[in-house]
Amino acid sequence: MDFKLTEEHIMIRDAARDFAKNELLPGVIERDEKQEFPAKQVKMMGELGFLGMMASPEYGGGGMDTVSYVLAMEEISKIDASASVVMSVNNSLVCWGLDTYASPEQKEKYLTKLATGEKLGAFCLSEPEAGSDATSQKTTAIDKGDHYLLNGTKNWITNGGTADYYLVIAQTDREKKHKGINAFIVEKGWEGFEIGPKEQKLGIRGSDTHSLNFNDVKVPKENRIGEDGFGFKFAMKTLSGGRIGIAAQALGIASGAYELAKKYSKERKAFGTEICNHQAIAFKLADMHTQIEAAQHLVMKAAWDKDQHQNYDLSGAMAKLHASKTAMDVAIEAVQIHGGNGYVKEYHVERLMRDAKITQIYEGTSEIQKIVISRSILKD
Ligand code: CAA
Repeated sequence: MDFKLTEEHIMIRDAARDFAKNELLPGVIERDEKQEFPAKQVKMMGELGFLGMMASPEYGGGGMDTVSYVLAMEEISKIDASASVVMSVNNSLVCWGLDTYASPEQKEKYLTKLATGEKLGAFCLSEPEAGSDATSQKTTAIDKGDHYLLNGTKNWITNGGTADYYLVIAQTDREKKHKGINAFIVEKGWEGFEIGPKEQKLGIRGSDTHSLNFNDVKVPKENRIGEDGFGFKFAMKTLSGGRIGIAAQALGIASGAYELAKKYSKERKAFGTEICNHQAIAFKLADMHTQIEAAQHLVMKAAWDKDQHQNYDLSGAMAKLHASKTAMDVAIEAVQIHGGNGYVKEYHVERLMRDAKITQIYEGTSEIQKIVISRSILKD
């Protein structure tokens, strides 16, 4: 394992850091308050290549490695996790899924636009009764010869209202259980495809989360991804990589909260000295720093595994489990260090604390990560 960053890695990390500071920080509090999607900034992210970082250059992607991607995710998440979830879904779930498993025609038609950020993607697996239990898909896609007829509801879909192309997982043959599940590319605007109301969320409030309804939507046969019955594996493989991105997001939230708390502790005085001189605060910072460094190692290990073409199901799940707990723990402590100021919006840490929670829920809850980890370590 060699975690030494190359010059290119450092350049990408610095570009993401500058973008976050210059373009995302202004207005981040207001966007959170108004639940406003960062449309202008997402467009810029596309232009700068942050929306298709790992996708093949022949289809408009950046052809970068996973290490570059997690470095950029971390920097952007330090400032605005609502923007980084857009980036995460488009890169890890949508572009990676298509780049790896779609046909050349599908890549030409859809990936080229998604990887450049010209169009935005969404990944639609969760349902009202199938979030963690992903094999229990109620959405059906019935084979009608030259097309499938899609019916059902998807819930909590990131980019639900703003996406142009949707990867939808649906059951085509219930008898076959997970082997009867398929993944389809569905376009916004197709007849029978309705976007439900926007969710009112605790955190990542700038991101655009909706339920989606499919009522007899005709999906052309050529929009199925892979062989018949490949949909569940497609979702699992895609989510395994997605978890590395969310782990990097969690790491960024933790690092952002830690940096703010450290700075504040060196400025704020109480009992005649800066509060960092009190062990009560210094020890908190020591714990936060240690947890973050451990999370950073796990995130880099998972990214490195993926780049080395090694199995990353286990390392990705461990990275997500630990980094998301770190985000939660560190953000809560950052609020505590800020005292009363931590509880008001202008100091940012209350938002980071609210944003942190979702990293323990989406792309598999912490309990799901423990299922993946325990199955992996107990199998031999
Ligand atoms: N790679 C390839 N195949 C995999 C796999 C992986 N990582 N994980 C499972 N599979 C395969 C298995 O090998 C098995 O196939 P075979 O029968 O051919 O061997 C098949 O899938 C079924 O596997 P399991 O029996 O292990 O399935 P399970 O029902 O026990 O579920 C689970 C496993 C890990 C709990 C899975 O259901 C899961 O990950 N659930 C969570 C889903 C999730 O993350 N949802 C989040 C929604 S997306 C989101 O949040 C996006 C967003 O908007 C931000």
